[in-house]
This record gives sequence, C-alpha cells and structure tokens, in this order.
Amino acid sequence: MVHTALVTGGNRGIGLEICRQLAREGHAIVLGSRDPASGKEAAADLQRAGHDVRVVALDVSDDESVRACAGDLAGAGVEVDVLVNNAGVLAEGDLLSGSPAPMDEAVAVNFLGPYRTARAFMPGMTRRGWGRVVNVSSGWGSFASGLEGPAAYAISKAALNALTVRLAREAGPGVLVNCMCPGWVRTRMGGATATRSVAQGADTALFLATLPDDGPNGGFFRDRTPEPW
Ligand SMILES: NC(=O)c1ccc[n+]([C@@H]2O[C@H](COP(=O)([O-])OP(=O)(O)OC[C@H]3O[C@@H](n4cnc5c(N)ncnc54)[C@H](OP(=O)(O)O)[C@@H]3O)[C@@H](O)[C@H]2O)c1
Repeated sequence: MVHTALVTGGNRGIGLEICRQLAREGHAIVLGSRDPASGKEAAADLQRAGHDVRVVALDVSDDESVRACAGDLAGAGVEVDVLVNNAGVLAEGDLLSGSPAPMDEAVAVNFLGPYRTARAFMPGMTRRGWGRVVNVSSGWGSFASGLEGPAAYAISKAALNALTVRLAREAGPGVLVNCMCPGWVRTRMGGATATRSVAQGADTALFLATLPDDGPNGGFFRDRTPEPW
C-alpha cells in the first residue's frame, strides 16, 4: 500500500532530503512550502526522477494556512498517513534583553506549527487506525544535554518534545508519534561547517516515518537510537 507523507518545510534543507528519501521508499509526497514557487522548484527534481510529488502552500505559523492546506488536500481526496513536522527557525536572542520577537517566532513555528498540523492531520490517522508522526526536534531542546543554543530555539524544541509525549498518548491505536534530532547538518540553518550531510540528517526521520506497527511511540531519537530527554 502506498502511504502519503506530508513534509513541512519540504522545499530545502533536511525537509527536502526527507521528501527524497520517503519518495525512494515508495511514498507519495506532499511537499509543504510556505513559498509555493520554491516548493515547485524543489519538487521538479523529484518529479523528473519519476516520484509522485504534490506541492502545497503551507506556512505552519499561520492557522489559516494550515486550515486551507488541510481543506485543499481533503477536497482532492488526499489522506495524510505520515506527517513530518520539519519546518523550523533558529531564532536567536537573549531572553531578558533585546526584542521578544525571537521567542514569538520560535514558538509560532517550532512548537505551535507542529501542534497546528497535528490537529489538522492526526484525527484522520486515528480514524483510519494507521499513522506516523515525526517531529524534527534538536539536541538543543534536551534537558539532559543542557538546553544549549539560542534560548528561544532551545525552549521551543523542548516544548516540541513535550508535545510529542502528549500527542503520543492521545494518538490512538496504530498511530505512532516520535521526535528526533538530526545532528548538526549542512543546511542554511546548520551552516557549511556542520559535520553531517542532509542524507545523514534525514535518516532518523525516515526510520521513524516507516516504523513497523510494533514500533516505539512517544520517544526521542538520534541515529535511530533512543536519546535522553
Ligand atoms: N541543520 C541543523 O544542524 C539542525 C540541527 C538540529 C535540528 N534541526 C532542525 O531540522 C529542521 C530542518 O532544519 P534545516 O537545517 O533543514 O533548516 P533550513 O535549511 O533553514 O530549512 C528550514 C525549513 O523550514 C521552513 N520554514 C521556516 N519557517 C516556516 C514556516 N513558518 N512555515 C513553513 N515552513 C517554514 C523553511 O522554509 P523557507 O524556505 O520558506 O524559509 C525551510 O524549508 C528544523 O526543524 C531544525 O530546527 C536542524
């Protein structure tokens, strides 16, 4: 059976590579991009390689955009079986000085974004009795690793980890929800000196998106291995 995977922020970086790897595994891809032109450009390569890729406009920080995307997909008869919440921003700044804008942005994209998409797409998975949700988090959101990195980013990713645990409890039979850290990856966010390729960064997302039915639920992973919270 062909599963359909929606990847947010699928137009570049780790998200585009997750689309590529899931397409190679035989998934139909819904590539979410807040700029549809950039999404179409990214999708063209995959389509040329013969993969089934549909581009949707999706700004995860915007309720209306998430609602419209879900409505368009439902109208087209597309059921999302796999949701990869990959879209993210590295919002930099201190907590007590400077503008509060980095916190607003980090929470809107990194935490409320996955919350919005979960509300839009997980009830369908629960109804159909099958689904996989992958939240692309970060080691910087881990208490065990000291909540390093920019404060708003770290806090928003810690909140995403908490969201993962609670969504997993509400998911219902057949739906598995997990989060993961891709490591330090060469993308616009990670920079050119990062230690990992996008293929390495996407690998654990692929693992979690294709878990067998007796796979883990509500965990945090890195390199396909459980990671301390
Ligand atoms: N790179 C690393 O070393 C690293 C390490 C740990 C975790 N991560 C996580 O991995 C994920 C992907 O990161 P990356 O390195 O691939 O970053 P990236 O190259 O900066 O790409 C970020 C993606 O998120 C999208 N995005 C940002 N805000 C959005 C919004 N409001 N709605 C929809 N899409 C939005 C961007 O779209 P636009 O093109 O429109 O901006 C882009 O597609 C993020 O969640 C990040 O926190 C990355």
